[in-house]
Amino acid sequence: MERIVIRGGTRLRGAVAASGAKNAALPIMAASLLAEGPCRLSNVPELRDVRTMATLLESLGVRVAGGAGAQLVLDASAATGHRAAYDLVRTMRASVLVLGPLLARFGEAQVSLPGGCAIGARPINLHLKGLDKLGAEITIDEGYVCARSRRLRGARIYLDLPSVTGTMNLMMAASLARGITLIENAACEPEVAELGAVLNDMGACIEGAGTDHIRIEGVQWLGAVDHSVMPDRIETGTFLVAGAITGGDVTVRGCRPAHLEAVIEKLIEAGAEIQMDADAVRILGSDRVRAADVKTGGYPAFATDMQAQFMALMAIAEGTSVMAETIFENRFMHVAELRRMGADIRVQGNSAVVRGVKRLSGAPVMATDLRASASLILGGLAAEGRTTVSRIYHIDRGYEQIEKKLSALGAQIWREKDPGGV
Ligand code: UD1
Repeated sequence: MERIVIRGGTRLRGAVAASGAKNAALPIMAASLLAEGPCRLSNVPELRDVRTMATLLESLGVRVAGGAGAQLVLDASAATGHRAAYDLVRTMRASVLVLGPLLARFGEAQVSLPGGCAIGARPINLHLKGLDKLGAEITIDEGYVCARSRRLRGARIYLDLPSVTGTMNLMMAASLARGITLIENAACEPEVAELGAVLNDMGACIEGAGTDHIRIEGVQWLGAVDHSVMPDRIETGTFLVAGAITGGDVTVRGCRPAHLEAVIEKLIEAGAEIQMDADAVRILGSDRVRAADVKTGGYPAFATDMQAQFMALMAIAEGTSVMAETIFENRFMHVAELRRMGADIRVQGNSAVVRGVKRLSGAPVMATDLRASASLILGGLAAEGRTTVSRIYHIDRGYEQIEKKLSALGAQIWREKDPGGV
């Protein structure tokens, strides 16, 4: 096993390129199951979750080929499999995204239930309720969701909660259903809008993806598509926090600042200066960060996937901030580790009260989930002395070469074998 070592205290300076978005790439890869022709994707990030999805698709009979420049060609023309096995699903919850496409294309899907995960229970009841509305017969058998239907039929679906992957699954399933589907209280995340655009390029008839009201007119079949994956807004936000937390001057190129409004607003409130144009954003950190309260929510509110990183920044802010987590019930596991670095954070129910300290001090810490590991690296960049972050397989799920990108900005950070790793 490997770990990341950081010698903190360097102000980051320079420019870094945003990678393709994990949470856009994964559903688009799953959507390839719907297409009777090759899907050529570019700007696909080189991540563990992307490899897991590729392995899962291969296991379903999709031909997967790589290409130069972060390209991926997925051809499901000859796919026949419809069982997503536990071994793969348990390593990545987003595997559930194959459920809708498999059912719509082959009339049958067996997908292992994802089980719990570190940041909360994360059920898929809304996915199943929606598929049931579309006419699927659903049973749970030996830990698998077994769904069947001759041809799905359009329906009006109201989501009790605007689940992101739930909206995506239903949008994909409804694309090949007979008649019209309305998804109400849909998730509005930009990744949902992007999936809608890709499905339309394949021949689907979807309006409103990216709003809370999506209308889908089912079509008979979907075909090949060429698509470049949008930039990762969470990776971009993480680099902006890296600029702020080190009082540095960091520019992220090839990103979409418009997708980061809530995060940028909070960074400004915290004392940073922001300059941006359509596809780049520059942050000039200040010497003393100010406290700013955050409440996570569905897009366009502050993303839960940025909560841990922003908390690392608030740990060294002047004053006390409250971070309210409204999406996941157990997303404060980074708190105990940040405390090991000298942070003063108390968790009260679904809020964390962060009393800013003058400085963090380097410590050995352990990553517990993807975004938590990013917050520990950020803490390490600001801390005095040496921080080692173990269990970094979590970070490799969602950040492409984070230590290389940060060292290019001047950080003293490297990856090494973890002598204590198991
Ligand atoms: C997606 C993102 C993840 C992000 C999350 C919230 C991907 C691959 N992952 O995850 O990075 O943190 O959105 O922005 O895009 N819920 C139910 N029943 C369901 C589905 C969800 O109760 O059937 C609840 C969840 O427990 C959670 C909330 O709804 O409390 C939101 O979850 P959801 O939007 O579904 O998250 P994911 O799509 O899994």
